[in-house]
Amino acid sequence: MTDAPLIDQLGRVHTNLRLSVTDRCNIRCFYCMPDENVRFKPRHELLTFEEIERFVHVAAGLGVNKLRLTGGEPLVRADLPKLVARLAAIEGIRDIALTTNGILLAAQVQALKDAGLTRVNISLDTLSEETFRRISRRDGLDRVLEGIHAAKRVGFTKIRLNAVAIKGITEPEVGPLTQFARDHGMEMRFIEFMPLDAEEHWQHDQVLGGEEIRRLIEEAIGPLEPAERPDPSQPATDFNFADGRGSVGFINPVTQPFCEDCNRLRLTAEGQIRNCLFSTVEWDARAVLRGGGSDDELARLIRDCVWAKKPGHGIDSADFVRPQRAMYQIGG
Ligand code: 5AD
Ligand code: SF4
Repeated sequence: MTDAPLIDQLGRVHTNLRLSVTDRCNIRCFYCMPDENVRFKPRHELLTFEEIERFVHVAAGLGVNKLRLTGGEPLVRADLPKLVARLAAIEGIRDIALTTNGILLAAQVQALKDAGLTRVNISLDTLSEETFRRISRRDGLDRVLEGIHAAKRVGFTKIRLNAVAIKGITEPEVGPLTQFARDHGMEMRFIEFMPLDAEEHWQHDQVLGGEEIRRLIEEAIGPLEPAERPDPSQPATDFNFADGRGSVGFINPVTQPFCEDCNRLRLTAEGQIRNCLFSTVEWDARAVLRGGGSDDELARLIRDCVWAKKPGHGIDSADFVRPQRAMYQIGG
């Protein structure tokens, strides 16, 4: 194994790995999953904690230093704190974040923190139970809110609340969500709806652009000022309220693609490496892990995957092809 960074043909250095630990979820958001008859991967197809640990160990040797655990819903995977503890012990890993829908968070958040989790992002699309049910086709907003408060109580700072921004749904939520985040010292983040819904209903005109949301926030609450940008590879453009109370971020993959600074790669729950959310090709790490492959072979596979990364997702181009997987099968 060499010490050269994980670089692609455009010179983008990859240090950030998103790990999906399951494709299962306890709700059914329409922008991600089908409502009924979901065909989840059988358990034996998912990587074990040992396999994930080995993969991360090799990736860390190639310069990966930030991890994010995703799903499906990562907290439906049993014993997640044990995985966090194993990953936190790997040399070179300095940040382990979690993206969760919050439903199971309250019960596990202390154990996650103790295990070495450094940050949490919680999905919060609405503060209305009715709208929650319309989006997720399940109940559970009260448990999400409990999870958010519990995360704060056990000492997580810089908690981020993620809302998928969808025309006709999100507009009335923007003010209350942003105010909620401001009141609780959290950052609200709006993510443009991407064509990754399992039901393939996504239409370009359903995307509520970040700029439009920014105007809605300024009307409802007050002026925003651009925040500093310490890390050019961060996907979000952040703003602070001019009165000094609170901040809000926009992830605008559709209206303002940020592919040129992307430093992320992904591992799906069943061990396929992807160089983009919108990849149509995958590199089979599980075959190497289960086929007696060496760490060097695994490293080469990771390098090959990163090297093959395309310049951008091309959502707006005429020849855009949706990936075969939906969001819950990739990992957000
Ligand atoms: N477009 C944008 N964001 C999405 N998410 C899930 N599906 C989509 C989509 N189609 C978000 C979730 C969560 C994270 C895992 O990804 O709301 O914040
Ligand atoms: Fe579950 Fe997250 Fe997909 Fe919603 S977006 S269905 S919470 S995996």
